[in-house]
Amino acid sequence: MCEIEQVENERIEVQLLLEAIFLKYGYDFRKYASAHTKRRLEHRRTLEGLPNMSAMQHLLLNDEMFFNRLLLDLSINVTEMFRDPWFYKSVRELVVPYLQTYPFAKVWHAGCSAGQEVYSMGIVLHEEGMKERVQMYATDFNELILAKAKDGIYPMNLVREYTANYQQAGGKRSFSDYYTADYDNVVIRRFLKEHVLFSSHNLVTDGVFGEMNAIFCRNVLIYFNRDLQNRVLNLFYESLCPGGFLCLGSKENIKFSDVAHKFEVVAEREKIYRKKRM
Ligand SMILES: C[S@@+](CC[C@H](N)C(=O)[O-])C[C@H]1O[C@@H](n2cnc3c(N)ncnc32)[C@H](O)[C@@H]1O
Repeated sequence: MCEIEQVENERIEVQLLLEAIFLKYGYDFRKYASAHTKRRLEHRRTLEGLPNMSAMQHLLLNDEMFFNRLLLDLSINVTEMFRDPWFYKSVRELVVPYLQTYPFAKVWHAGCSAGQEVYSMGIVLHEEGMKERVQMYATDFNELILAKAKDGIYPMNLVREYTANYQQAGGKRSFSDYYTADYDNVVIRRFLKEHVLFSSHNLVTDGVFGEMNAIFCRNVLIYFNRDLQNRVLNLFYESLCPGGFLCLGSKENIKFSDVAHKFEVVAEREKIYRKKRM
């Protein structure tokens, strides 16, 4: 078989696997970035010692536990407290003052992973006297990771890095004010979990999410192809109230999308945008 034919066969095999996942389990990865999905599927195939993608197809259809493992591979959950500290500094300076103009505001964290992003924002809101006046919605399509987010329990060995991030992000107190130690873990303090609603939401298949004043969706779009990124950016546009803020990850942007002209750029490097009042 020539190389071109082999590449084409592999592409078809991946497509069939993604189709099977969608038909059997309802998760739609068909418009995720193809290089990413292929890498993750190959990773799982190697770990399971399977000879080829067809063997994976069989296992996928007949073994739900295998699918659960694959789901974790496909939904990269890497995250941290105050990820990109300079981003949170700008949120404090640019987004929070806007939220403060409202008696009550709503913030959505889409693709919240294990919750660190939500608790980071909760800390910023607390320090700016806004925690009680903001309802936060934290969503992810991965139920397992969502359960971890609700628990807010993180390994103690990450605290040094989280503390440094917090300080660089302009933290006003001591990071240790926000957790209690529990053997090898730290547990996020209860007050940071108040006014946070964790729920399952799939950005590919689910709809608009209320009249939000700010939406954070960081390091999620990067895994989607252009078409899907465009769909999700439209979803965010519809979910934001006029003047509301959209915050993306450092490698993401709205330039190519058909809602680009409906947002103003507030901070280019931080990927903070604002829905224009039309
Ligand atoms: C790399 S993490 C980013 C976490 C956090 N936003 C941050 O920047 O640190 C990506 C998250 O997006 C979630 N995700 C991927 N596809 C999704 C989808 N279709 N709907 C909702 N969440 C999704 C994954 O489960 C994962 O938790």
